[in-house]
This record gives sequence, C-alpha cells and structure tokens, in this order.
Amino acid sequence: LFTREISQVFLNLIINAAHAIAAKGKKDTESEVITVETQFCSGWAEVRISDTGIGIPTEIQQHIFEPFFTTKEVGKGTGQGLTIAYDVVVYKHNGTITFNSAPGQGTVFIVRLPCVPSEQKPSNKGHSI
Ligand SMILES: Nc1ncnc2c1ncn2[C@@H]1O[C@H](COP(=O)(O)OP(=O)(O)OP(=O)(O)O)[C@@H](O)[C@H]1O
Ligand SMILES: [Mg+2]
Repeated sequence: LFTREISQVFLNLIINAAHAIAAKGKKDTESEVITVETQFCSGWAEVRISDTGIGIPTEIQQHIFEPFFTTKEVGKGTGQGLTIAYDVVVYKHNGTITFNSAPGQGTVFIVRLPCVPSEQKPSNKGHSI
C-alpha cells in the first residue's frame, strides 16, 4: 500500500507520539492513546496520527521541521525525524504534512499524499504511493 520510505515516515510519527505520551511522566498510561486513521479520497490519501501526549509548546511549533531541532535528551532524539518526513512527503511525493497541537493535551499530524491507482490486476488492487 505504501512504500518503505513512506512507511518509515509514519513509524517516525508514531514514535514521536509515544515519546510525547511518555514525556507526560504519568504512571497510569491506560487512558493515553495513539490513533492512526487513513482515508482515501479521490486522488489523495490522508493519514492522521494523533496522540494524547504533552503537546508542542506554541513557541517551538515553528521549529519542529528544522534539521537537528530536538527537545529530547542526548541519545533519545537527533531531531531528524520530522526533517526527513518533510523531505519525503513534500519534496519527493508532492504531499503535505501539517500538524495541530494543544499544549498539554495532544497533537495530530496530518499527512496527505497524492495517490496513483495501481493497475487493476486481480492480485494488485488498490493504491500505491
Ligand atoms: N507528537 C509530538 N508531540 C509533542 N512534541 C513533538 C511531537 N512530534 C514532534 N515533537 C517535537 O518536535 C521535535 C522534533 O521532532 P523530530 O521527530 O524531528 O526529532 P526527535 O524526535 O527529537 O528526534 P528523532 O526523530 O531524530 O529521533 C521533538 O524533539 C519534539 O520536541
Ligand atoms: Mg522523532
């Protein structure tokens, strides 16, 4: 369905979501959730990855896609995940990557990709990106 490169972008977003939840420092994480929703519209695929983590402080929101920007301690993050995600989604696939964050409440990343229907062979139905 998605190429390896695009799948890696989603994995990075999910790891960020898990870190954001861990960063709340709560012992009981039962009510914390990461959701991944995928929607195929005409010509577009939209993937939303939401978390109930710490959120992104307003003052750093403009920097998160910058190379090596990280708020994580040494060894935990290198600040490259979102830079690579932007490069892959926007420059290589002509898509968009946006986010909405409520500090203290959570974040949603929205990835939109133009999708090309694959050949309608019985064994190869659907879309590939
Ligand atoms: N879901 C999220 N919730 C809260 N903050 C986030 C979230 N995603 C990204 N951030 C913030 O954006 C920064 C940059 O993210 P990015 O993925 O580029 O780097 P990283 O996760 O710190 O390191 P790396 O991905 O290279 O291991 C993070 O350090 C964090 O401060
Ligand atoms: Mg990351």
